[in-house]
Amino acid sequence: MIEKINDLIRRVEEFKPKAAAEIEEFRIRLLGKKGELNQILEEFKTVAPEMKRELGQQINRLKTLAQQRINDLKTAAAAEPAATEQAAEDLTRPGSNDKIGSRHPISLVRNQIVEIFSRMGYTVAEGPEIEDDWHVFSALNFPPEHPARDMQDTFFIEKNPDILLRTHTSSIQVRTMEHQKPPIRVVCPGRVFRNEAISYRAHCIFHQVEGLYVDENVSFADLKQSILYFAKEMFGEQTRIRMRPSYFPFTEPSAEVDVSCNLCGGKGCNVCKGTGWLEIMGCGMVDPNVLEANHIDSKKYTGFAFGMGVERIAMLKFGVRDLRLYFENDVRFLDQFNSVL
Ligand code: DAH
Repeated sequence: MIEKINDLIRRVEEFKPKAAAEIEEFRIRLLGKKGELNQILEEFKTVAPEMKRELGQQINRLKTLAQQRINDLKTAAAAEPAATEQAAEDLTRPGSNDKIGSRHPISLVRNQIVEIFSRMGYTVAEGPEIEDDWHVFSALNFPPEHPARDMQDTFFIEKNPDILLRTHTSSIQVRTMEHQKPPIRVVCPGRVFRNEAISYRAHCIFHQVEGLYVDENVSFADLKQSILYFAKEMFGEQTRIRMRPSYFPFTEPSAEVDVSCNLCGGKGCNVCKGTGWLEIMGCGMVDPNVLEANHIDSKKYTGFAFGMGVERIAMLKFGVRDLRLYFENDVRFLDQFNSVL
């Protein structure tokens, strides 16, 4: 008899229902009126008195164990029907989504800028972050005493000859003209470095995309149309641009480009400080001195160049007010760009 009881205990322990209905069947077979437990209790009546104690204890164990196991299985089946094998085989169940990462907003915007210009025939050029004075300043027509060369702005690695972290991606213009002859049409994305105090609107590391187009008969009108096309693609069809005269050593004439504020539509709000306009880039016609420094005949060829800050474009596009968010890698911030672009 003891074997019978132990065998039942083992069956209870090993019982794995394939469907919820099997649990109830099992309960009836075991604990029901005509179930196996009651049969054992019948037999128990005839057992010799000296055996009763041990057998009685074992029967009680079987009973509690069986009730406990059946209750547990029923609660599990009610809470998660999928836990049983039958549910797991249900091929119509919706799949569980794996959480995929998102691209960084700076990468999203940089890729979009590159993509828009690639539709106009631009290819991508890149260059080193550690540069020399020639590629960052001299070949771009910066006079020797120009303030941008100052220790205030530039991170120098070595002095005389100067090795430094590039302060702008215009250095890639120079590297491109060095080994490519016109027609040249490139966009140059990259990271740049300036010795600035970190605040909501400035950082010592940021990203730029530079553009350069050199060919015969390239005019300011071409520049304006290209920038207008870019602005509409980036900020929407209703976007307008305006150009203000400016100065850069490497372009003549030079301009700064504003786009109509995409938040208020040009009416004036606190993002555009009531002006209706937001500055997005510098640009101009490549200074003949720059072409000549790179052995391009400035009588035959003309060109335009432009440069924009990726963080700035991303801030305007996504309404981000603090530049530092781009560098903190806070998942709560980055997660919001999961479905963008
Ligand atoms: N290099 C400039 C800067 O970092 C941006 C710039 C302005 C680039 C005008 C250009 C340009 O190519 O034509 O502020």
